[in-house]
This record gives sequence, structure tokens and C-alpha cells, in this order.
Amino acid sequence: MDPELRRCFVEGMSRAATFVAVATTDGEAGRFGVTISSLTSVSADGDHPSLLACIHHRSSTATAILKNRAFCANLLHEGQHEVANIFAGRSGMADHGERFSQVPWQPGNLGQPNIAGATAVFECRLATALYWETHHIFVGHVVGVTLSGDPAALLYGQRAYRRAVDIS
Ligand SMILES: Cc1cc2nc3c(=O)[nH]c(=O)nc-3n(C[C@H](O)[C@H](O)[C@H](O)COP(=O)(O)O)c2cc1C
Repeated sequence: MDPELRRCFVEGMSRAATFVAVATTDGEAGRFGVTISSLTSVSADGDHPSLLACIHHRSSTATAILKNRAFCANLLHEGQHEVANIFAGRSGMADHGERFSQVPWQPGNLGQPNIAGATAVFECRLATALYWETHHIFVGHVVGVTLSGDPAALLYGQRAYRRAVDIS
């Protein structure tokens, strides 16, 4: 690939502020979790609502989701950037068991880890997965949503954690 095209792509996408979530999974493959900014709503009106998440193929969380066939998208609250760092391995925690020992959580109805304090928790059955070049694109059927009392979500843009400000 043209390195300049890649550089401009990465810089352009860094300007697209997104919310921050932790994708967690538990089951026969074990318990894993990874910080993601690729969480996207797909449809509110199918059989179930659906969402997608893109996770690098080398992530142990991606491998585990494929086997566990379920995951949880924990949309972080604006005060949870430390949780984002833990599940991004930025606090020196490569071990996923250690990551979960640092953060309060409990299993949801499908047994998927619900992170305490997340502003919204979407528990999903894996509907389908597409392996695209470097990433797995996971589409989940949402079977349950837990909402906290505080809707303020953590954002990430221009390589920093941010919060949304109302300018209307
Ligand atoms: C704000 C933020 C957003 C991220 N978004 C993604 C993402 O959407 N997909 C992905 O594969 N990795 C993403 N990452 C990187 C992973 O969190 C990181 O590579 C993690 O260490 C992978 O852990 P694992 O390989 O142990 O599963 C993001 C990291 C941060 C800090």
C-alpha cells in the first residue's frame, strides 16, 4: 500500500471522534475483553436490534468471540478512561484475567461480562462474522440492554479521550 495514503487515512480517521466501548466475552474459550472504538449501530428493526464491532484478528478477544458465539458491548461512561486504558493494554496488562480483576463487572443474562458504570451495556449473540483483511467484523443480535442513570459517554478523537459538549 502507498504509505502516504495510509498516513492520510489514519490521520483522517483520527479526526472522526467516536465513543469508546469494551467488547467482552465469556464462555468455553474463556473470558476476554478489549477496548474498541469501532462499535456501530446497524439496525433497530430486524428480528432483534443489531450492532457491529471490528476487532483485529490477532486479538485474543476476537478469537474468543468466534468460539463463545456471544459478546457484550459496554459503552463506557465519560469518567471511565482508565477502564479504556486497562482493556487496551495501556496499563501494562496483557493478561485478560488481570484486566477483569481491576474493574467491577457481573455476568449478564447470556453470561457475558457487564462492566459496572458503563453508560449502556448491549448483550449480544453473535449473528455473523466477516474476516476482512486484518479485522473480524462481528455483527451481534442484541438480546438485552442495560442503561445507567448517566448517559454521558466517553469519546476518543485526535488521539485523546474527550467528552461531548452541547453547542446547540
Ligand atoms: C480508544 C481506543 C479504541 C480502540 N479501538 C479498537 C478497535 O475498534 N478494534 C481493535 O481491534 N482494537 C482497538 N483498539 C486497540 C485495542 O484495544 C488494543 O490493541 C488491545 O491491546 C488489544 O488487546 P488484546 O490483543 O489483548 O485483545 C483501540 C484502542 C483504544 C485505546
